Amino acid sequence: METKEKPIGVFDSGMGGLTVLREIIRLLPQEHTLYYADAAHCPYGDKSREEVIAYTEAGIRFLIDRGAKLIVVACNTASSSAIDYLRERYDTDFVAMEPAIKPAVNTSQTGVVGVLATRRTIEGEPLKRLCRQWENRARIIFRPGCGLVELVENNRENTPEARRLLENYIEEMARQGADRIVLGCTHYPFLAPQMREIIGERDIRLIDPAPAIALRVRQLLAARGWLNLGGAPTRHEFRSSLDADYDEKLRRKLEQNPT
Ligand code: DGL
Repeated sequence: METKEKPIGVFDSGMGGLTVLREIIRLLPQEHTLYYADAAHCPYGDKSREEVIAYTEAGIRFLIDRGAKLIVVACNTASSSAIDYLRERYDTDFVAMEPAIKPAVNTSQTGVVGVLATRRTIEGEPLKRLCRQWENRARIIFRPGCGLVELVENNRENTPEARRLLENYIEEMARQGADRIVLGCTHYPFLAPQMREIIGERDIRLIDPAPAIALRVRQLLAARGWLNLGGAPTRHEFRSSLDADYDEKLRRKLEQNPT
């Protein structure tokens, strides 16, 4: 099989990476994809860096063993904790997540940017290093989105519980003047419709890096000459560390949330 025809691998702790996968499918409709969720250990957000590295490496090896031509670590928590470790040990091209601080700071009118992410991502060195580049341009405030991943994993985005949590997090950042909220966890775009209802007419915008990640994937594949330009029907496979029922839930989640 030519490399072009091999799948793009996408990894997350659970369903969150589907918000990146859907942008990749939209931009690159002729690419095969293989999605792997380490659902048996989800959520990662409150686990140690060492645990996240070990779990992420197991998931990455699953994708490499099945011939992924490039791997998107569609998980901010895993990217923050494990991407350097992975790049040192594997030749595979990796595209990692990074909270979209730059576009948020560059477009903020109030000069206050909120970052909603898991505790592990917020406490990680990569985000601290990134924010140091921008903290003279804007005030960056952080809010661990505790409980949000679990809501998405259980399809409870449109519940009063989700509304209460999101109101709490958004109003806390709005009160401090934030007019940009960075979605620093790939699960959170599934909650964006609820967030926009809470924001209402206010000029507070959500920043989701997924479209930029898809562009980066296309750029890397084009540079390698590995874009799949063939006309064969594309295959989108969904696997997990849990069971076949969860694998099917992944497929359904994407079908129910294509944009
Ligand atoms: N969706 C992942 C992220 O972007 C991980 C969430 C979790 O497992 O806590 O951080």
